[in-house]
Amino acid sequence: MQVFLFSASIDSARLNDLEHRIRAKIPDVQIVSRMEEVTKVLPKAAGSDGELACILFPVVLNAPASFDRMVSIATEYRDSLFFIFISDDIPASDYKRLVQTGGADWASTRGAPEEIADILARIGKGGADSAESPPTTEPVMIAFVPSAGGVGNSTLAIETGIQLKTAKRTRSRRVCLLDLDFQNSHICDYLDIEPRMQIHEVAANPERLDAQLFDLFVSHHSSGLDVLAAPRSRDNSPDLDPKTLEILFGMIAARYDLILLDLPVPWFNWTRQLLSAAEVVLVSGLNTIPGLRHVAESLTAVRAVERVPAKIAVVLNRCEYRLVGGFARRHHVKNLLGTEEVFFVRDDVENAVQSVNTGIPMAAQGQGKVSKDIAPIALLASEAKPVPSTGPRS
Ligand SMILES: Nc1ncnc2c1ncn2[C@@H]1O[C@H](COP(=O)(O)OP(=O)(O)O)[C@@H](O)[C@H]1O
Ligand SMILES: [Mg+2]
Repeated sequence: MQVFLFSASIDSARLNDLEHRIRAKIPDVQIVSRMEEVTKVLPKAAGSDGELACILFPVVLNAPASFDRMVSIATEYRDSLFFIFISDDIPASDYKRLVQTGGADWASTRGAPEEIADILARIGKGGADSAESPPTTEPVMIAFVPSAGGVGNSTLAIETGIQLKTAKRTRSRRVCLLDLDFQNSHICDYLDIEPRMQIHEVAANPERLDAQLFDLFVSHHSSGLDVLAAPRSRDNSPDLDPKTLEILFGMIAARYDLILLDLPVPWFNWTRQLLSAAEVVLVSGLNTIPGLRHVAESLTAVRAVERVPAKIAVVLNRCEYRLVGGFARRHHVKNLLGTEEVFFVRDDVENAVQSVNTGIPMAAQGQGKVSKDIAPIALLASEAKPVPSTGPRS
């Protein structure tokens, strides 16, 4: 597919930055300053082999008129050109109008290269309408299960997701982090993005969840990690019926290769069903005697689900680390958890606090010790193989 970057709509400094970043992902991108330069080559691009060409269109969304113009351009050319508009942000209602043209999508300036690559991969599979086409492989589901409150379950899930999206080996995988704490979600605070999943709408009307609505629910992080999280509300019911879950996971499974689940502490009527569909379950907890007991109880509960996940391991977070001797109180772990596979992640208050206060995950800030400890978890997640589902996933 030919990909063009339209240069006339933003200043040269922003254009250079954008071009530089996009070229790293799409080396063949061609710069054009007038639409005619694209339309005159369209017979070649969209002709005999029927392939769409794609034009990347940076815009400054400051006036309704400029948005209306985007919609009309996208509608006019939709048989031969697919537009990806790029701006810092876009109101949800505008985004919906844009996608409804059938000839356009949107990428954020910060996440541009990854988001563009994702969109191109999607439309490359057979046109703009192929958003619902099934992925070539079954996705893998990794569940982070907290054994108690505040053990760092969300932090572990986030850091794993960011490591997967920043490591050269895995960054092309489509990774989604689903926050299942509908009432008290805090993943988006940690990542400084807006939660967008209106879970009450889905619960009330599951059959309304189509591709367009789903796209509106996704929050894009600049690393390329996609997040599904509901705006915090005590009115959100934590109960989802099996049909809602089925429709939601059908949408997710069609779009992502790797799904990270951040579960809440209480178990609901859907928890066992979800865990039965996961390939890997990571039970998180703390290395104290009560903490390890919570972990042991959670492991028993996980092993009692209908289809036991292929891999179950423990992550002990906020562990004390000594220069001599390494992680403290390993013998407690041995006594209470026996032969369980255990990952130790050290306590690093300074970096953790800075991370939540700045909205920048530790993995994106550099080489912190916590990131080093989480790296084997990201490796485990990346190497998990899909187990053909026998029901619960769908
Ligand atoms: N390894 C760590 N070292 C220090 N603080 C941590 C670590 N992991 C998480 N935290 C902090 O612990 C608090 C609770 O973490 P969070 O991920 O929200 O837990 P949960 O999702 O289990 O409630 C947060 O302030 C977080 O920054
Ligand atoms: Mg949490």
